[in-house]
Amino acid sequence: MRLESGRLILRTTDRNDKTELFAYRSDKETNKYQGWIPETIEDVETFIGKIAKHINVPGSWFQFSIIEKESQKIVGDLGVHFWDKENKQVEIGCTLNKKYQKKGYATESLRTVITYLFTTLNKHRIFASIDPNNENSIRLFERIGFRKEAHFVESLFINGKWEDDLIYSLIEKDWEKIGKDREKIHLTHN
Ligand SMILES: CC(C)(COP(=O)(O)OP(=O)(O)OC[C@H]1O[C@@H](n2cnc3c(N)ncnc32)[C@H](O)[C@@H]1OP(=O)(O)O)[C@@H](O)C(=O)NCCC(=O)NCCS
Repeated sequence: MRLESGRLILRTTDRNDKTELFAYRSDKETNKYQGWIPETIEDVETFIGKIAKHINVPGSWFQFSIIEKESQKIVGDLGVHFWDKENKQVEIGCTLNKKYQKKGYATESLRTVITYLFTTLNKHRIFASIDPNNENSIRLFERIGFRKEAHFVESLFINGKWEDDLIYSLIEKDWEKIGKDREKIHLTHN
């Protein structure tokens, strides 16, 4: 599975990505709002082993590695959770290596995958679960056009603590309206 936008390639994460993935995913400060932070390279191997082999399988997580075309380096990853049994709703999340933040790569990656999910896979609703203190992530999803739907209080038990959870969502007909600046993407399936 491969998607391409102006500056980026998004392709299925595979075992060869483990070293690069570990390098930025193990950064505890940058990822302090994430539920999963690997302690060892074996944690990353286990994580990669659990990723769905194919995209669009109900109940599964699919993972893209985000590659900067210019350097051919992995700059981050983007997860897609095929959430409901009707297979019309999807949860989405993105992590960038700190070195590659603030260049618009998360916005470009998400717009690309969102376009694919709505136009090729005919999804109805895409949502994100965000820690209320994660200002970069809130700005990211608001910039793309997601609507704040809920603030759940102490609804997630993460690393031994009850945490609040914001839910942001985008439905297909709203994406249609705001899609003027939709990413131009090139798809390759395999
Ligand atoms: C959430 C996260 C992916 C957001 O990354 P980000 O770098 O802020 O977002 P983008 O890559 O889209 O970059 C947008 C920023 O780059 C700036 N920018 C600079 N050059 C740009 C360009 N050429 N094009 C677009 N934006 C550019 C924008 O102004 C914007 O800055 P702002 O947020 O201060 O307004 C990142 O903070 C992260 O990985 N955090 C750790 C993991 C995490 O918590 N993930 C959330 C899970 S839901």
